[in-house]
Amino acid sequence: MNYKNALQHNIFKIISQSAKQLNLDCYVIGGFVRDYLLQRGLTKDIDIVAIGDGIKLALQVAKNLPNKPKVQVFKTYGTAMLIYDDIEIEFVGARKESYNETSRNPVVENGTLQDDQNRRDFTINALALNLNESCFGELLDPFNGIQDLKDKIIRTPLNPDITYSDDPLRMMRAIRFSTQLNFNIEQTSLKAISKNKHRIQIITNERIVVELNKILESKKPSFGFILLEETGLLDYILPELTALKGIDEVEGQRHKDNFYHTLEVVDNISENTTDLWLRWAALLHDIGKAPTKKFSKKVGWTFHGHEFQGSKMVYHLFKRLKMPLNDKMKFVQKMVLMSSRPIVLANDEVTDSAVRRLVFDAGEFVDDLMTLCEADITTKNPKKFEKYHNNFKIVREKIIEVEERDHVRNFQPPISGEEIMQTFNLKPSKEIGIIKESIKEAILEGDIPNEHEAAYQLMLKEGKRLGLTVNN
Ligand code: CTP
Repeated sequence: MNYKNALQHNIFKIISQSAKQLNLDCYVIGGFVRDYLLQRGLTKDIDIVAIGDGIKLALQVAKNLPNKPKVQVFKTYGTAMLIYDDIEIEFVGARKESYNETSRNPVVENGTLQDDQNRRDFTINALALNLNESCFGELLDPFNGIQDLKDKIIRTPLNPDITYSDDPLRMMRAIRFSTQLNFNIEQTSLKAISKNKHRIQIITNERIVVELNKILESKKPSFGFILLEETGLLDYILPELTALKGIDEVEGQRHKDNFYHTLEVVDNISENTTDLWLRWAALLHDIGKAPTKKFSKKVGWTFHGHEFQGSKMVYHLFKRLKMPLNDKMKFVQKMVLMSSRPIVLANDEVTDSAVRRLVFDAGEFVDDLMTLCEADITTKNPKKFEKYHNNFKIVREKIIEVEERDHVRNFQPPISGEEIMQTFNLKPSKEIGIIKESIKEAILEGDIPNEHEAAYQLMLKEGKRLGLTVNN
């Protein structure tokens, strides 16, 4: 089969000519070929295998390109990379790899194209297109990856036990590709993942998180998390989630399975947002439920304070996985901490002051919080489902109304501490805090508008109550 059409970008001609000048063969392999065949759109990432010195080829290509791009050489890995027309092109010499028990870094020898295809993770990632002039565009598919693409199957070229044990990151990749592409993992492969799950421990957390993020960014993330759970990998990666599994029953009272509930929430939110961090928030919103779960005869199952506990756990989880402890982490913490607020609100009659407080506490993230809470509605009772959604609709409308009137989203006190000090001729003291708090409370309660004049009058009243005299 010939796939010349895949190689219309002028970079392929230039690579082909450069290889000819060096008298070596080369191929485009991996994700680019797979994504072309799946019509996923042009990949911004091209992998080239040279039968010979990949670094030399990269340097020759750079010389032949009009803009003479810089070549980044990674000597230890025998690879080189250059960027052309916003595409990252990676060059490697065909290699044969052998692994040892403790590391995913292989011992490498030069090899043939077939050796190189053998060492690839999946049949669908081992597809190669010939870049040599005489058979430009010809497909080399020793493991029938084309058929696996058609059948939507993830399969390893060699015995999966070897492929996964050699590089355990591939267990995560299998699940990630299967989630992204909606493919099934072949049975023996799935068994091999379960068998080798403990080997995930030699993989760095950073790499695991890259795959987790890709699963979370997929259309239906639950697909991947269920596979991670079923293979046993999730226990190693996110034990906070597997701790949510199961339904307990005491005296006929049951609680829901919070693991599967969480996955439903993640799928729900993924229909409404592509924001990775909001999806993380959905994934972690109930993690505090495992350590706070209690049963009492009077009220049944409770998870008191699980939001606070959960938000603390977010920090430890991010730290353990070496995820950045930055504003994104704080955002996820805030979402987890506030995750029950709107539902409590929507259960009762929605009052202006409750909405004002919600907007004040959630600040700029109030819309994200609403999106999370709407996704959290997983009841199978259609009446309740409709009631909650309707109530949230009212909350959303009120948020807009209250916002237009009171501007509390990014609340700035209408009276500054400075002004209070000047008015009463005060030095920094606790009275200033008391007055500021009274003004804030009155605004949030709706007793006064969020305006200077009204706040000024209240300040005078409060000052009098505290026995302060106005500075003339
Ligand atoms: N590869 C592999 N084992 C790995 C990582 C990569 O065999 N653990 C091979 C596969 O042939 C893969 C190629 O290297 O197609 C390029 O890897 P990478 O760029 O990480 O993945 P892509 O397949 O391009 O897909 P994506 O960009 O979605 O990660």
